[in-house]
Amino acid sequence: MRSTFIAGCIGLALAASSSASSSSSFSSNNAEQVVLTPSWEGPSEFVKPKRRPLTGRFLHITDIHPDPHYKTGATFDSGCHRRDKKKKKGKKGKGKEKLIDDDETFAFDEQDELFKGKGKDKDGLDLAGEWGTAVSKCDSPMSLVNVTFDWLKKEWRDEIDFIVWTGDNARHDIDRSLPRTTSEIFKLNRMIVSKMLDTFGTDIPIVPSIGNNDIWPHNVMAAGPSKLTEEFLHIWGKFIPPDFAHVFERGSYYSVEVIPDTLAVISLNTLFWYDSNTLVDGCGDHSNDPGALEMDWLDVQLSAFRDRGMQVWLTGHVPPHMGYYYDNCYLRYGDLALRYQDTIVGHLFGHMNVDHFFFIDVDELESTPVDRSKSKSKVRSKKNFAPLTANLSALPSFQRQGDVGIYGAADILKEELKKDFQDMPGPKDLKLKDYIAVNVAASVIPTYLPGLRVFTYNISGLGDEKNEDALYKPHKLPLQDDDDEDTEGEAYEDDVEESEEEGEHHDVEVEKKKDRKPGHRHRGKKPKKGDCKKPENEDKPHCVFRRQPRYYSKDSPSRSNKALSPLGYTQFYLPKLNKQGSTPQWEIEYTTYKRDVLDPSSSDNSTRRSQWKQPPPVPLKFLPGYNDLTAIEGDGSDEDTLLLKKKWEKTLKKITPWRMPDLTIPNYVKLSRKLVKEKGMWDKFQELM
Ligand SMILES: *[C@@H]1O[C@H](CO)[C@@H](O)[C@H](O)[C@H]1NC(C)=O
Ligand SMILES: *[C@@H]1O[C@H](CO)[C@@H](O)[C@H](O)[C@H]1NC(C)=O
Ligand SMILES: *[C@@H]1O[C@H](CO)[C@@H](O)[C@H](O)[C@H]1NC(C)=O
Ligand SMILES: *[C@@H]1O[C@H](CO)[C@@H](O)[C@H](O)[C@H]1NC(C)=O
Repeated sequence: MRSTFIAGCIGLALAASSSASSSSSFSSNNAEQVVLTPSWEGPSEFVKPKRRPLTGRFLHITDIHPDPHYKTGATFDSGCHRRDKKKKKGKKGKGKEKLIDDDETFAFDEQDELFKGKGKDKDGLDLAGEWGTAVSKCDSPMSLVNVTFDWLKKEWRDEIDFIVWTGDNARHDIDRSLPRTTSEIFKLNRMIVSKMLDTFGTDIPIVPSIGNNDIWPHNVMAAGPSKLTEEFLHIWGKFIPPDFAHVFERGSYYSVEVIPDTLAVISLNTLFWYDSNTLVDGCGDHSNDPGALEMDWLDVQLSAFRDRGMQVWLTGHVPPHMGYYYDNCYLRYGDLALRYQDTIVGHLFGHMNVDHFFFIDVDELESTPVDRSKSKSKVRSKKNFAPLTANLSALPSFQRQGDVGIYGAADILKEELKKDFQDMPGPKDLKLKDYIAVNVAASVIPTYLPGLRVFTYNISGLGDEKNEDALYKPHKLPLQDDDDEDTEGEAYEDDVEESEEEGEHHDVEVEKKKDRKPGHRHRGKKPKKGDCKKPENEDKPHCVFRRQPRYYSKDSPSRSNKALSPLGYTQFYLPKLNKQGSTPQWEIEYTTYKRDVLDPSSSDNSTRRSQWKQPPPVPLKFLPGYNDLTAIEGDGSDEDTLLLKKKWEKTLKKITPWRMPDLTIPNYVKLSRKLVKEKGMWDKFQELM
């Protein structure tokens, strides 16, 4: 927290002292002028998307981080902005100082054939690649942004129903000789908006949310209305339904009915919950903290959507993780997620730049300590949860893309996740209603390799003649927690009894907090459940669920496959980013589906393929090798054909590591077990992360 604050101050000082020079260098940079001129000429107000036939797919894209200053052949240490010729390997510290005072900031010579496009300079330093630099701290060059949007326009424009877009549309502030400015951040955001509109038009809903790098200084945002919220209301004018304009001005969150009266996407402003935001103070109940007000709003939204029998995706930038959120915000998010589990189909976030998922569960929420006297906790160890930017000294060599080195934070995240999955109760003890799953998507910025996702969801009965019977209808009366004691077990009551002694548990929990591990779940014995009359326990599930209804049904779309259930996703990536010369191509990295769902030639008719009565999860043209196969003439028994078929089988196997029937909670729990129990699975998971 403190270091963020100090960094903020330095940023301020730097910006103030260099504002004149930086703005002049800004306008003298022609490339940027070109790049930042929006090409979109359409309306500037909110446009109600046209209704068109549903495809059962949507896009999740996040952390684009465009950087118009990126230069091919620049050094990593300059943030891929310059080539610092004097700097030699092994003198990092001195090099950095040198860089800051370097007058030759823009003296980069693009024609320097010595190093251009070769990946390394004569001293063996790694250099910025033409399309971006995998496994580096550098941001995305415009060439990468273009390759991405060109591909989306060509291949996906008519293949998806809506877009979830979870923030960070400006470069990082990693180059101290070229500090970011508010105006640059807004420009970059406008540029990406114009790319989105140019790519998808206004036919389909696009739902952006604000990232911690979409503001200046990064991370810190106060409650609105403010210049910032006004500006984003303007920048996103076409996306934010007018009904939410006032809410947006206050807090930069809103909802969009991506299928009117049926499915909504809620765009959350996670910065009010993010504990690096030093301008807010968490989510204290009965407080006017912007984070608390947002939770109140979310509660009302979920309740209203539930009353209308709708389903909802929760989306935002910073994932709801105890390593990131103020404790009381994390608790309240978890409470809401569990209480409205019959209405929320899933949780989609970005920020981490690492492809993974995790659970929020009741036991973990119970053991999240909250010290009410100071919601800004000073004791947490956050470094392991910093968004993953590469540790330069651990960078694998430039050519080794695909063999992404394991380093620093990612390593710890992997270990923690593995332990979490291992420590989950066995099938007999695990109560599914106590679990929700959060998806964190890979980023476009090549912290590893650029990635984005296309999800599918069940659209049975949702077509033109909407079949009301196909939709899940929430129970008229909420299921109170006491309603199903048989699944709750005795331990629950025991714990509550035990906690009646006043005074004890508060101390215990504060003590626990001191040696709080960065880990996700608190291992060991079941957490004690404290007295609900005490403010520090107010947001603990066992207290919240007593006060407020918890809507659970194993028939709801997040729990069993029916209309609106998430069915799976396809992870696309740009594997050959660092290869010189050719334009990199977006390809399938993996999918969550079973093989026979993808494979139209599957001979087993008893399989799910025949039940998949909606557009295929992945348009067939994307399946590697599929076109070769369909081009076959004759009876298909010659040697070449057999080889092709064999290759096809192999490819299919490779891109279907998880073989999940759908993305409902029971299948996520099964996957997590499979990952830690089956041989080779965890390695595969790590590799894909
Ligand atoms: C990216 O695309 C824009 C507009 O389509 C174009 O003006 C710009 O030159 C392109 N930049 C690069 C680096 O390809
Ligand atoms: C970066 O990586 C190097 C080599 O793996 C390691 O020694 C160093 O501690 C790391 N630094 C940070 C800040 O993680
Ligand atoms: C969608 O849900 C229906 C049940 O409502 C089911 O019969 C169908 O198989 C599901 N579709 C897919 C593609 O899983
Ligand atoms: C699978 O279904 C197709 C028609 O949909 C049929 O021609 C074929 O014989 C079936 N195959 C098997 C093995 O049942």
